[in-house]
Amino acid sequence: MPHPSHPAPRELLKLVVVGHVDHGKSTIVGRLLYDTDSLPEGKLEELQALASRRDMALEWSFVLDAFQAERDQAVTIDTTQIRFKTARRDYVIIDAPGHREFLKNMVSGAAEADAAVLVIDAAEGVREQSRRHGYLLHLLGVRQVAVAINKMDLVDHDGARFAQVAQEVSEYLAGIGVEPAFLVPIAAREGDNVAAASPRFDWYEGPSLLEALDRFHAVTQPGLQPLRLPIQDVYHFDQRRILVGRVESGVLRVGDTVLFSPSNKTARVRSFEAWNAEPPVEAHAGQSVGLTLEEPLFLERGEMLSHPEAAPQLTTVLRATLFWLGRTPLAEGQGLTLKLGTARYAVEVASIEQAIDTDSLERRQAQEVPRDGIAEVVLRSRALIALDEAAALQRTGRFVLLDGSETVGGGLISMEGYPDQRRVMAVRASNLFSVEHAVTREQRWARNRHRGGVIWLTGLSGAGKSTVAMALERRLFERGYHVYVLDGDNVRRGLNANLGFSPDDRAENIRRVGEAAALFADAGAICITAFISPYQSDRDRARTAAERLVPGGFHEVFVAADLETCEKRDPKGLYKRARAGEIEDFTGVSAPYEAPATPDLSLDTAALDVEAACEALFGYVTAKFALEATD
Ligand code: ADX
Repeated sequence: MPHPSHPAPRELLKLVVVGHVDHGKSTIVGRLLYDTDSLPEGKLEELQALASRRDMALEWSFVLDAFQAERDQAVTIDTTQIRFKTARRDYVIIDAPGHREFLKNMVSGAAEADAAVLVIDAAEGVREQSRRHGYLLHLLGVRQVAVAINKMDLVDHDGARFAQVAQEVSEYLAGIGVEPAFLVPIAAREGDNVAAASPRFDWYEGPSLLEALDRFHAVTQPGLQPLRLPIQDVYHFDQRRILVGRVESGVLRVGDTVLFSPSNKTARVRSFEAWNAEPPVEAHAGQSVGLTLEEPLFLERGEMLSHPEAAPQLTTVLRATLFWLGRTPLAEGQGLTLKLGTARYAVEVASIEQAIDTDSLERRQAQEVPRDGIAEVVLRSRALIALDEAAALQRTGRFVLLDGSETVGGGLISMEGYPDQRRVMAVRASNLFSVEHAVTREQRWARNRHRGGVIWLTGLSGAGKSTVAMALERRLFERGYHVYVLDGDNVRRGLNANLGFSPDDRAENIRRVGEAAALFADAGAICITAFISPYQSDRDRARTAAERLVPGGFHEVFVAADLETCEKRDPKGLYKRARAGEIEDFTGVSAPYEAPATPDLSLDTAALDVEAACEALFGYVTAKFALEATD
């Protein structure tokens, strides 16, 4: 029981009020303040006097104008902190969109709204900004939304008109995955149904706007979600190393085994630490904690703590629905800093896939994203990023983009078409000891009279990888080279028979082939591989595997026929079937292909015939694999 002189702090709900210009946002806010007795002492009288001096009726929006005027004179209040209260809890209204700083604060998470009121004029219906703001709520992860259908007095409090607008707005919001919890008819100027029910809406059975707000939850992060705790700092305190951070979702308990990402280290939680207080035994979403581990791990700010069985994904590439605030348009190839939780990663815009028109929800091709534009983009980083999909976990499925220290955008993460790279990087076994061969690499090379290595062909299906690989194998074999081709369609019947074409399966396909090719190379052979290998990260990993054994021995060759050419050739009839929807996840059609940015060799097989392509490769191989060649 709280001590009577120390009542428990009142619950606070952070609210945003959004909607098209002139649909009545300020009037609603003014009226809410009045109805909840939250106007500063004397303010009402002051405004009434002002209205009568100007010979006008009192408008509730004057309240906000007055706040604004005071702020402009830098007198007392900050309009971003307009407060009111009900018996249930306190409310603070975060400034409404339209202001640039507001957008930045929302996008960067500096101002986090728990709930939103979307205001729509009953006479005008859904307008451009209604949609745009609705879309923003979705992007910003505001899940609790009440739609206030305002100015019902202008449509004679007509229930049929309300139903029509309610349907229009619900349909739009459903299209972006937002489901309003309440649709409330109001006439804010008269105060009808704002705080108290009004007899003018005898056809309406739901709560008033204020009652609806009171039904929202102040904490929107349930403990049932997977645990995420971004490490904010590591303190060294006498002998202890204390990790501090805020639990973003889930629950953490003393004794839990936890995993750190992206470093992929695990440890057990020894204790929570508290200054001048009894330490808790468990920590919930929203709580900031200090903790110590049983194992002395070296960890840095930015690591994401989770339970191992429900870990975030690890990736060097991600897809995002991005809201761009930068002064100049966003372009492909641009470098930025991605901030997620407490981590920062250098990223590059790999591609702008589609621009999204928030009005029609139409998507179209675009070269760049203008200021305030929304687009689906693919971002790439060198380092592994620990993240979640926004659809699965709101808090860690969102990020902020920085240009220098300036916030220039925010986005929602989707991994559609891309694998979780955690699976392909983990070494599960422990107690391993490497054994040295009794034959050296140089001895093998000397006997073969050439070096070993990997010729890694990558390209779309139908680009000619297999054909060129087999022709090259024949030619090298005839000249006495030890050579062998690993081909996708063949290897998938054996070693990789248990893998399909999902992003995760493709990553595993390439991981195994990369490791197998590295072994061939280590054995002194030239291993030619012919796999689509659509992801740069997988090819990079294949390179690392090979070069760990044979430094400089990996050669990435882009078999670069374009999609149009491959589709025209369609040697196996697969493109046709993919277009007809009979094959899912088909590369180039319904699954991504990432062309190598810096291949060791590029062969344009749309222009070169097999003979010429093979000739070019043969020249490359004989030079690179000669004994006297340098690494
Ligand atoms: S990879 O993407 O995992 O590297 P891989 O090269 O092994 O693919 O296999 C590609 C071959 O599988 C293609 O040449 C084609 O014959 C066949 N295939 C079957 N389904 C698909 C698909 N959905 N996408 C691409 N290729 C497919």
